[in-house]
Amino acid sequence: MAPPPKGPPARKLLCMCSLSLCLTYACYSLMGGPGALPSSPLAPQGSPLSPSAVDTPPPRNGSPAWLRTPSPPSVSEATEPSRAWTETDPPSASSPSSAPDRDLGVGGDSSSSSASVAAAAGSEAAAAAATATPDYGEKRLPQALIIGVKKGGTRALLEALRAHPDVRAVGTEPHFFDRNYDKGLDWYRDVMPKTLEGQLTMEKTPSYFVTNEAPKRIHSMAKDTKLIVVVRNPVTRAISDYTQTLSKKPEIPTFEVLAFKNRTLGLIDASWSAIRIGIYALHLESWLQYFPLSQIHFVSGERLITDPAGEMAKVQDFLGLKRVVSEKYFYFNKTKGFPCLKKPEDSSAPRCLGKSKGRTHPKIDRDVILRLRKFYKPFNVMFYQMTGQDFQWEQEEGDK
Ligand SMILES: *[C@@H]1O[C@H](CO)[C@@H](O)[C@H](O)[C@H]1NC(C)=O
Ligand SMILES: *[C@@H]1O[C@H](CO)[C@@H](O)[C@H](O)[C@H]1NC(C)=O
Repeated sequence: MAPPPKGPPARKLLCMCSLSLCLTYACYSLMGGPGALPSSPLAPQGSPLSPSAVDTPPPRNGSPAWLRTPSPPSVSEATEPSRAWTETDPPSASSPSSAPDRDLGVGGDSSSSSASVAAAAGSEAAAAAATATPDYGEKRLPQALIIGVKKGGTRALLEALRAHPDVRAVGTEPHFFDRNYDKGLDWYRDVMPKTLEGQLTMEKTPSYFVTNEAPKRIHSMAKDTKLIVVVRNPVTRAISDYTQTLSKKPEIPTFEVLAFKNRTLGLIDASWSAIRIGIYALHLESWLQYFPLSQIHFVSGERLITDPAGEMAKVQDFLGLKRVVSEKYFYFNKTKGFPCLKKPEDSSAPRCLGKSKGRTHPKIDRDVILRLRKFYKPFNVMFYQMTGQDFQWEQEEGDK
């Protein structure tokens, strides 16, 4: 599949888009009745993203407050060991958020990468293993971060990147720019693995993308920090997010109950984190106040699975790395139905870029899914315009 054209969107396009966003909302309200939208702040200013829109009044206070304020710790945010890679995460990677500090730093050092595995994967990989496990060098603050999104495939991306000899990353999620900021930069640096000159230090914490303070904080650490966001169809992301929570807290209400403020009226509860996280355009806007678009790279969570090498090539280019992680680093497991990494950095079981097909997802009513698609559509379109990339989430849904 051909990668969609990428590049900074023309200003004109953005204006047109915000206009169309407003139009969409207007139609939406007419068709969906008074309850089509969660109160009205969005409708008239549907353009929290478009200070430059010609005909629309500028948003009163930027984005609607109900979307901007961090939601109170809710069921789905309370637990987030990242499980994007596979249902069986390495122990080091699944640090429970209840004890975010304890196993930090452990995951970064996988000195167990055995030579035999490396040899099997070729000399390049052997070199990778040799440089991936040094206990020398020095700890540095990260130059690149995977900032989101939860359930987007951030674990998969990080593990694939860790196969690169010039990347060293923390296996756990440090949560520095949201939960642990008080601990200071020295603490943060200490969490990082040691690197040699020329190696990139990285970490991933998917909640950064939806943390109001994160852009400013990261900018004040280093304004040239490279940012990576793995995004995925927000509807499937929301369901996946809910499924993960459900597996830990079977007593929570159904998806349908949590998704609506009033189901009869079709009123989506956009304050529920499982839904709020997927409003990518709004979150991105706050990042763009601190970072140029060229400093943010967007990975398609879908293409990371269908074309891992292609997606990895773009990520490595963005990070200024040699294209080392290529096709030969992956194999397709037919039973699983997903590509897997030949040589996981910690030499545990192969890491695959998706869950086993057998994993039970709760059955979500079809009309709820349709309603959610409708809800996300204008935000998705705006996101495509802002990023200059078409993630084809509508197209994908049309196929079903
Ligand atoms: C939902 O809206 C309908 C129609 O306005 C109303 O009758 C009903 O009480 C509302 N339900 C809830 C749970 O608020
Ligand atoms: C493929 O996946 C299946 C199911 O998870 C697993 O049992 C099998 O060992 C995997 N095969 C390889 C070669 O990774």
